[in-house]
Amino acid sequence: MTTAIAPPQVADKKMLIDGKWIDSQSGKTFESINPATGDTICQIAEGDRADIDLAVQAARRALESKAWTRMSAADRGRLIYKLADAIEANAKELAALETLDNGKPIRDALHVDIPTVVKCYRYFAGWADKIHGKTIPVNGPFMAYTRHEPVGVVGQIIPWNYPALMQAWKWGPALACGCTVVLKPAEQTSLTALRIAELAMDVGFPEGSINVVPGFGPTAGAALAAHPDVNKVAFTGSTKVGREIMKTASASNLKRITLELGGKSPNIIFADCDVEKAAKFAYHALFFNMGQSCCAGSRLLVEDKAHEQVLDVITKMAKKQRLGDPFDETTTQGPQVSKEQFDRVLGYIDKGKSEGAKCATGGNKLDRAGFFVEPTIFDDVNDDMTIAREEIFGPVLCTMKFDDVDEALRRGNCSEYGLAAGVWTRDINKANRMAAGLKAGTVWINCYNVFDAAVPFGGFKLSGMGRELGEYALQNYTEVKSVVTALAR
Ligand code: NAI
Ligand code: MG
Repeated sequence: MTTAIAPPQVADKKMLIDGKWIDSQSGKTFESINPATGDTICQIAEGDRADIDLAVQAARRALESKAWTRMSAADRGRLIYKLADAIEANAKELAALETLDNGKPIRDALHVDIPTVVKCYRYFAGWADKIHGKTIPVNGPFMAYTRHEPVGVVGQIIPWNYPALMQAWKWGPALACGCTVVLKPAEQTSLTALRIAELAMDVGFPEGSINVVPGFGPTAGAALAAHPDVNKVAFTGSTKVGREIMKTASASNLKRITLELGGKSPNIIFADCDVEKAAKFAYHALFFNMGQSCCAGSRLLVEDKAHEQVLDVITKMAKKQRLGDPFDETTTQGPQVSKEQFDRVLGYIDKGKSEGAKCATGGNKLDRAGFFVEPTIFDDVNDDMTIAREEIFGPVLCTMKFDDVDEALRRGNCSEYGLAAGVWTRDINKANRMAAGLKAGTVWINCYNVFDAAVPFGGFKLSGMGRELGEYALQNYTEVKSVVTALAR
């Protein structure tokens, strides 16, 4: 069955710098690939150092321009609301672009990604005129107050797993705080970023306040991270690149950084919970978005007594998963985003098998064009195996057994990562103990993957630093200035 939404025809794309759509300085372009077929969608202007430099200069001019500095915070908020409205009005087109470029099922793009993007912009639009400092009582004849000023020009580097949503997590707080931005989308998925930038210009964002430079990581991305006139870099992606960003930022102008990195999140099921429900959630906790989520519940720890039941539910669900054309509205699993990721995931599956984990279901690629991998569940995984330690970022779930709360906590924490965790229990004392003891930026209790633009998200340990979303996100995009004034006696 096909849906009302068909794969769109996409023209070649330019980059947005200073309100103008231009070719790259080098004249180079690169291809965007449809992961469901391996075919080329279109050519995109390929940014590098020279383009980043122009974009940063434009963002700096915009930051200091009258159009920006004289715009009231309330009016800035209204612009962000208008962008949210424009995205909502073009939801079908944007969902189709996301599905074409990323491979996610159209029903997810349309009912999850794009509505979440709209909510995120609306949430931060509301903040724009509520960001302010404090007056502080001090000793002596002085008045002290703080100003929360925009941190300045921000560089934002995003991944390909939730392209439009990651752009919203970055642009929402940056624009609410009055920063101007240069965004580098992931090379695999530039299309929604460029279309949303176009909508932003249509609703009236001043020239240069937002700039989008597509291109590759080691060229355009690294140039943005190193640029001496960028005040802050926000990055989401791999821990490996996160480390490089940190080095580059420290070697240049000590720009502020936030890093939203990988994970190997434990999802812990105690036998006293609603096991059937927990198992269903555990399935989606990993397999949603083809397993390409930083917070994927990739280590499923199940209390021994419930293990058989959980494994039964999830393997049945895996067998019912509908893989195929992501534009078919009955499809529940599309391809991995790229050939590179597809090979990587298959490499991990081989590793799991060779290190002795039991493959309960799946374990193969699909015999068709595109980058499709069967939903794969490994059982009897132990903590030392590669598949239990490294982020796979694909449809591969590791299940393991435990006996009691102490063991669950110890093994839940036995990872270099600390992004998220799930806990399933009806026992409030167990829940509280786990919530306090797990070293993770988010702990979901009797739920998983519950996001809200108001709730902060980010990592402990190798999962990164800083928090996105919620009020906490604003701290990343402001500098606090203390003003102390002598009072006449
Ligand atoms: P990546 O970290 O290389 O790419 C993410 C973004 O960083 C892209 O925009 C890329 O162009 C840019 N980038 C790459 N190298 C850069 C550099 N030297 N300087 C500045 N920017 C740079 O991730 P990749 O290669 O796409 O995926 C590899 C693995 O990373 C995945 O298998 C997964 O484990 C992890 N990952 C985690 C994500 C998350 O949401 N936390 C998102 C994407 C990937
Ligand atoms: Mg890479």
